[in-house]
Amino acid sequence: MGSCGTSCGQTVYSCLFEYDTPRIVLIKSRKVGLMNRLVQLAILAYVIGWVFVWQKGYQETDSVVSSVTTKVKGIALTNTSKLGLRIWDVADYVVPPQGENSVFIMTNMIITLNQTQGRCPEQLDKTTRCHSDADCEEGYTGIHSNGVQTGRCVVYDPANVTIKTCEVFAWCPVEDDDKVPQPAFLKAAENFTLLVKNNIWYPKFNFTKRNILPSINQTYLKNCTYHAETDPFCPIFRLGDMVEAAGQNFQEMAVEGGVMGLQINWKCDLDKPASRCVPKYTFRRIDNKDVAHTVSPGYNFRFAKYFRNADGVESRTLIKAYGIRFDIMVFGKAGKFNIIPTMINIGSGLALFGVATVLCDVIVLYFMKKKYYYREKKYKYVEDYELGVDKIYGSQSESPELRGDQ
Ligand SMILES: *[C@@H]1O[C@H](CO)[C@@H](O)[C@H](O)[C@H]1NC(C)=O
Repeated sequence: MGSCGTSCGQTVYSCLFEYDTPRIVLIKSRKVGLMNRLVQLAILAYVIGWVFVWQKGYQETDSVVSSVTTKVKGIALTNTSKLGLRIWDVADYVVPPQGENSVFIMTNMIITLNQTQGRCPEQLDKTTRCHSDADCEEGYTGIHSNGVQTGRCVVYDPANVTIKTCEVFAWCPVEDDDKVPQPAFLKAAENFTLLVKNNIWYPKFNFTKRNILPSINQTYLKNCTYHAETDPFCPIFRLGDMVEAAGQNFQEMAVEGGVMGLQINWKCDLDKPASRCVPKYTFRRIDNKDVAHTVSPGYNFRFAKYFRNADGVESRTLIKAYGIRFDIMVFGKAGKFNIIPTMINIGSGLALFGVATVLCDVIVLYFMKKKYYYREKKYKYVEDYELGVDKIYGSQSESPELRGDQ
């Protein structure tokens, strides 16, 4: 302690028994005063208007947890030479029977009946056309092949024996998917309905609700269809209406298929009564809309039904299904008053007022005509300690060595 006797004592003394404070310079200038108030007003408007009123900065928020189940209803009747008179119900056109947050409804198809494993001519195209067996390679299979080539060249169309293709070992007869049926095979799907049941949960607030609101009774639910203006809370949607609400044409979309999004938005202010927390439905086509400009438009896939006849031969019905997949997307955010976000936002709002000071300082000290005058008033210039002492005490403070040099 010997090395810092009095100086340490002084530090402690000044720390305990002295107080320093910033000096405030009051500038009497209409321009600067007005500007300061304007900036402060803008900040106040931002904090109150945007942060608190619009963004509800006083609320704690939580995002939604939800589950969705769907049910499709509707019947379609078709009459074609291939299939005869036929009824299509839910079990026929919803593939797979149930899925997660999405439902696929078949609207169009290419059906190939009674396929069995065997040998038959390959589908006609540039690469499979042949003139003699020499054009076909035994064991060859391409990416687009329906089967493995046997090495023979056979008549493709009995009506015109000059057209031949390579024979393949495959599910025969092979599918002919050159032309998509137009209009769509199940065009009646426009009138099918989709019931969406959606339960939501806001874990932070332990708030649950479902989209079949308490005010909806059994008879209403049996007869209603969603309409944005007249029945905005009916959870039953006509497929045609949904596609139309997304600005698309159903019959056009039904031919090649596509993907539709049904968005359910649960934006809730839980400071208000729970009955005010209601779903809002919006529709949107998700796959590429510009059908004319895409190489592979729409949505399709294949599935088959397998049979075994009396003598044990396996056969199948192959369906290339085109249809619309409805993806149900639930999102939402709930907010409720909480003291912590309120305090944080008040704090950061107050801190923003500092911006007004900084801005006005910059203007006053750097851009105004009388900036030198203001600078002089704002800053109290203090010289370096040694020099200052020299000025005050003159030659007395000069060190003996310096005096000796002179
Ligand atoms: C849908 O139903 C309406 C009224 O029942 C009917 O007029 C219309 O033809 C149906 N649409 C299709 C594509 O079947």
